Amino acid sequence: MHDELRAALAGLLDGLPPTQAARAVDRLISHYRGTTPTDAPVLRDRADVAAYAAYRMPATFEAVQSALDAFAARVPEFAPRTHLDIGGGTGAATWAAAATWDGHRSTVVDWAQPALDLGRELAGATLPGTEWRRAVIGDGLTVPPGTDLVTVSYVLGELRPEARRAVVDAAVAATAVVLIEPGTPDGYLRIREARDRLTAAGLRIVAPCPHGAACPIVPGEDWCHFSARVSRSSLHRQVKGGSLAYEDEKFAYVAAVRPDALPGPAAPAEARIVRKPQLRKGQVLLDLCTAEEGLRRTTVTKRHGAGYRAARDAAWGDTWE
Ligand SMILES: C[S@@+](CC[C@H](N)C(=O)[O-])C[C@H]1O[C@@H](n2cnc3c(N)ncnc32)[C@H](O)[C@@H]1O
Repeated sequence: MHDELRAALAGLLDGLPPTQAARAVDRLISHYRGTTPTDAPVLRDRADVAAYAAYRMPATFEAVQSALDAFAARVPEFAPRTHLDIGGGTGAATWAAAATWDGHRSTVVDWAQPALDLGRELAGATLPGTEWRRAVIGDGLTVPPGTDLVTVSYVLGELRPEARRAVVDAAVAATAVVLIEPGTPDGYLRIREARDRLTAAGLRIVAPCPHGAACPIVPGEDWCHFSARVSRSSLHRQVKGGSLAYEDEKFAYVAAVRPDALPGPAAPAEARIVRKPQLRKGQVLLDLCTAEEGLRRTTVTKRHGAGYRAARDAAWGDTWE
């Protein structure tokens, strides 16, 4: 799926004058640094959406893919038949869902028609049966009964507080809800707020948190986030500048389910690694969020044998049993 998305994106800026592409990217960057929400779509025309897809979609795809992987590992028997991608834009989360499960039908909802058009074009024959529907999301949004999976990726920050809460409250009608935001302090706070609403509506948190109780992080002091490696194609380098072969996309997420609507078990891990593990001579320091003790650091040394080898291989975001 990863390679197919790359291939679909490769021809994207063909025919678009480089200055126009650069201008569209500049507009996007200043928009995302400026004030959101907005009252009208930011992705206004083909140049805007081509720039978004080339500049951001590889990264949002990898972030959603990491979140869905972590989620799927906690609900091994869950396989959605229907997926609603709210604020799906050019379809990054729909590509990520197709990389995680087979045989479902996705519906992408967004208010930006040019984004939907390009999303449909990129999806081509790779994501057959995907429906691209224009709609404003917010208060009036309903999630059809029987929807198995809802994704909301990199969208909550574009909505006004009432609309943001309304979207989360509508999403709880699905069996599973996965919300992804940028891995910034503000992105984390939006995920934290949404997490409280999901649990209040009776959903069970299965990732990344090892429990559904209050988040042990003190807002303002720290924020929960993870990292996904994004390899940069030459197109990506051309649009973003610079010559690095990869970049790390930081993201925050939460995944929750209605356990009674699932075919099998759904349980969070005992603990998750919430910082990049620190490798020292003969020891690994792991920062964990745990079900029993909240945040704690553990030191795994050579004396732990297999545990030490596992710690050396462990990555930020992995579970730790
Ligand atoms: C940053 S993009 C994320 C797109 C995609 N989910 C991804 O992960 O790449 C935000 C998307 O939300 C859409 N959006 C923002 N506010 C909206 C609204 N009020 N109604 C419908 N779509 C909205 C935008 O048009 C855009 O496609």
